[in-house]
Amino acid sequence: MIVATPEDMERLGALIAAELRAGDLVMLNGELGAGKTTLTRGLGEALGVRGAVTSPTFVLARTHPRADTAGMLPPLVHVDAYRLASAVELDDLDIDFEGSIVVVEWGDGLLDGITDSWLRIDIERPHGGDADAEVEPRDVTLTGIGPRWEGVSWDAVGH
Ligand SMILES: Nc1ncnc2c1ncn2[C@@H]1O[C@H](COP(=O)(O)OP(=O)(O)OP(=O)(O)O)[C@@H](O)[C@H]1O
Ligand SMILES: [Mg+2]
Repeated sequence: MIVATPEDMERLGALIAAELRAGDLVMLNGELGAGKTTLTRGLGEALGVRGAVTSPTFVLARTHPRADTAGMLPPLVHVDAYRLASAVELDDLDIDFEGSIVVVEWGDGLLDGITDSWLRIDIERPHGGDADAEVEPRDVTLTGIGPRWEGVSWDAVGH
């Protein structure tokens, strides 16, 4: 689907958030500046996390608790796997996958063996622009991998 602006990318994140529950893992693929963190920001806002979702470039994983008073909702764990070399290193972060909603930027190739299901989101720049701040359409593809996503349709998202 075509996502025209950063605001639309945040809205897409919010629509995806509505489907997510504890144990879910989302993998974001796309070059530097594609919009992975922008989508995660919208997702985090829709989940009602405390604190802003920013680029976790200087930490490997950041846990965002939800702002629910009872403290019962699963936190959002936002991982930047850019500097991780292997699935072993991702495993070493000791993330509570079962009890969290986990979003991994740059996770391609790192998830096998960690989990049997994940939602893969590919973000591309069909016009191949270079300036980061420029508003430019992105082409986003959602692919559910594994039993968790069998029968889950994303057709309604993006229309
Ligand atoms: N249609 C669009 N969708 C998303 N972001 C857009 C769009 N058009 C322009 N942008 C801009 O592109 C930038 C995307 O940055 P963002 O940090 O989300 O990318 P990223 O994929 O997380 O990069 P990195 O690989 O460095 O983590 C932002 O500055 C955003 O405003
Ligand atoms: Mg990012």
